[in-house]
Amino acid sequence: MTQLSQTRDAVLTITADVKAHAPQVLAELRANGPVQRVRLSSGIEAWAVLSYEEARAALTHPALLRDPTPSEKALTDAGYTAHRVGVGIGGSMLQEDPPNHTRLRRLVAPAFSARRTKLLARRVHEITDGLIDAMAGHDEVDLVQAFTAPLPITVISELLGVPEGERDQFRDWTAAFLATPSDAQRAAGAALNAFMSALVDRKQAEPTDDLLSDLTAQSNAEDGRLSREELVATGSLLVIAGHETTVNLLGNALVALFRHPDQADVLRSRPELLEGAVEEFLRLDSSVEMATPRFAAADLTLGGVEIRRGDVVAVYLAAANRDLGDPFELDVTRPHARHIAFGHGIHHCLGAPLARMEATIALGALLNRFPELRPALPLEEVRWIPSGMMRGPLELRARLR
Ligand code: HEM
Repeated sequence: MTQLSQTRDAVLTITADVKAHAPQVLAELRANGPVQRVRLSSGIEAWAVLSYEEARAALTHPALLRDPTPSEKALTDAGYTAHRVGVGIGGSMLQEDPPNHTRLRRLVAPAFSARRTKLLARRVHEITDGLIDAMAGHDEVDLVQAFTAPLPITVISELLGVPEGERDQFRDWTAAFLATPSDAQRAAGAALNAFMSALVDRKQAEPTDDLLSDLTAQSNAEDGRLSREELVATGSLLVIAGHETTVNLLGNALVALFRHPDQADVLRSRPELLEGAVEEFLRLDSSVEMATPRFAAADLTLGGVEIRRGDVVAVYLAAANRDLGDPFELDVTRPHARHIAFGHGIHHCLGAPLARMEATIALGALLNRFPELRPALPLEEVRWIPSGMMRGPLELRARLR
């Protein structure tokens, strides 16, 4: 049964309920050519970019921007409000083009440098070990709830300076925010913004040693380097981008290892392969399946297809990366592929060193502590998060012994 419904005008529909088969769906689509007309789960018609070469070209094309103004009609026709500064992550670097993008990214980049990230490794080990100790008394757990979600949430919260006991709703807000446009999505964005705004007030009154206090101080500077709205959007972006992506990288990696238990044994006996294996997990099943949409500011040609000003372009990082090796086989000894799971061009992921470090430590510790780790349910029954952009298991029940 094909997972794609072809409509009269040859628009293919990619909906959340095809998530279980997304790799096969994207491969089928890719076989028809590198750039295809689709309808996204949001209802928006877009050009899906599915090949590695074209994906890299799209992400660096001077006429493919994040400013949605030329596409306003396509967006409103689908019932979608173009992002606005002060709503959700509107006004954060991810939603902006230069020069705003450059200014906003520069303010945050030092906190995520490879050097600063290395300093966090010890704390990541501690958090990982704490979570593993808490699981160790059980025969069976949901790895998402017990491990893959709390680790990245704790790390990004500590970095930003979100006090313990105030992080409980991050997962739910993020899930709602990344789902199909709806009232629930808008409400989640607003709730996260309100939380962040109140936290900024507290950092202003009583600065602490964390990233949000630093940014709050920068926002108070009189040279207009960071407005209050941009500060709130940046904090909200870091919460969302800083955890959900990594939760899903870990979840996808574990599903891949459950499918290929021989590869888990290779990693147990050769832990020096872990770092490279993380690149292979990202290549095989990229947790950011689709990059944020690009909007055509001028007519252009991509992969032999004419794209008009105002058209929406959806770059499928997951499909592009499967061009780089066997699309469905995990090989933890594969030489590092130059995948684009962290994006490409000026929006290349700021948190890539942190995500890589968290994943290497977390997967290594989990495999080491639980030699009998295996799925508690047939893998065909895994349910996937209902997001058009992200890919990862909603829950992952596993036996620990
Ligand atoms: C941007 C992937 C973890 C912060 C991006 C983009 C991708 C991505 C694909 C570009 C989106 C686009 O061009 O539309 C991932 C993956 C992660 C991960 C796969 C984990 C496995 C993190 C972490 C942080 C982070 C831990 C940390 C705080 C950001 C930020 C941006 C970004 C701030 C925006 C950069 C910009 O617009 O210049 N990420 N990310 N990400 N990511 Fe990550």
